[in-house]
Amino acid sequence: MNTRVVANMPDLTNYWMPFTANRQFKAAPRLLSEADGMHYTSVDGRKIIDATAGLWCVNAGHRRPQIAQAVERQLMVLDYAPSFQMGHPIAFDFAQRLASIAPRGLDRVFFTGSGSESVDTALKIAIAYHRAIGQAARTRLIGRERGYHGVGFGGISVGGIVNNRRVFPQLPGSDHLRHTHDPVRNSFVRGLPEHGAELADDLERLVALHGSETIAAVIIEPVAGSTGVLLPPKGYLQRLRQICDRHGILLIFDEVITGFGRLGAPFAADYFGITPDILTTAKGLTNGVVPMGAVLVSRKVHDALMSGPEEQIELFHGYTYSGHPIACAAGIATLEIYEDEGLLTRAHELTDHWQEAIHSLKALPNVIDIRALGLLAGIELKSRNGAPGSRAYDVFVDCFDRGLLIRVTGDIIALSPPLVVSTAEIDKIVDILGRSLRKVA
Ligand SMILES: Cc1ncc(COP(=O)(O)O)c(C=O)c1O
Repeated sequence: MNTRVVANMPDLTNYWMPFTANRQFKAAPRLLSEADGMHYTSVDGRKIIDATAGLWCVNAGHRRPQIAQAVERQLMVLDYAPSFQMGHPIAFDFAQRLASIAPRGLDRVFFTGSGSESVDTALKIAIAYHRAIGQAARTRLIGRERGYHGVGFGGISVGGIVNNRRVFPQLPGSDHLRHTHDPVRNSFVRGLPEHGAELADDLERLVALHGSETIAAVIIEPVAGSTGVLLPPKGYLQRLRQICDRHGILLIFDEVITGFGRLGAPFAADYFGITPDILTTAKGLTNGVVPMGAVLVSRKVHDALMSGPEEQIELFHGYTYSGHPIACAAGIATLEIYEDEGLLTRAHELTDHWQEAIHSLKALPNVIDIRALGLLAGIELKSRNGAPGSRAYDVFVDCFDRGLLIRVTGDIIALSPPLVVSTAEIDKIVDILGRSLRKVA
């Protein structure tokens, strides 16, 4: 179908689109030209309800004047300043504000430009930490199957998505825990799955295989987002924390998606009551308005690196845009909105409605599992024979034509609306998706 080509369509030739089937897209493009609150407007003038918060990032809803004004004010005062051996006040202010909402003890903040940069930064900090405490052999990094940690070489090495890995070489020595997705034992469970805590013991297996003295860190998404909203089994995260402690391995939570209220608490670490040693963020940090990431680091890790001669740079790492003043302005305004409107806990208030609404899709054709937590949901469809991913992709295109933006990964539909979503809008999202599933799936 190519009904979306309209008069004001730009020339699509030059832009090489990321994570996109470029030729297929350009033959039938889906272009968004405006956004406001819970909605996008497509170039052909249709209102599209945003059930994905952009790309899991626009937690406070679109085009918030308070953020725009803060960015404008900052632009007129200090547009850019270097952060290497120099500083500017707003970066320190933002770090302080972040520290004030961070999980207990994670109050040292390293700024980056994206989630991928946050992940690579966290992995490097973990390795540098061990060297600083005299354990330089600890360079091995452990991720998990079906994990997504961005697209840097560090991130794909610990990531567990085959298509992101098969073409590229990875860091030597990286290894993976098994994933926790077990639809046979846990399908359609409300809340956290009952079965699978024992999968955390995989870390013991890797310790036995490699030797704990070679392992720097384990990185996981507390809830795996990009591979289809995979929830941690009850007790799994606690067990992983204990095993890390037993063997002196740092635990990194990648909260690029779960950070800033997605589960109904400021961070997944708060929601699950498990504190990692390092926590990565991006996306909701600035409401998606300006690219930025932040790595929250425990004092133990930070302070170990604040050693040696004081005139020496402690960590040979950083980005031109670390602590960019415009991004900091957007971030501070975003945090103010989150706090003023109670958005960091709003998903908790909506959870019953969300669970009811999402689980009402259970009986629809080819729905084989539903998972929901906070304001996140994954709806898994049965793959068509010989054409994995095609069923969900057809639903995605059909929903877009009906005025709903969803996200699909393989044959899983992922939903993560802005945290300002109303109950009526939740019902609308589920209604449109239900119609689409009935027709397409
Ligand atoms: C858990 C996780 N980590 C890292 C990233 C990478 O973030 P970015 O695309 O900003 O580099 C993502 C992006 O979706 C993510 O979900």
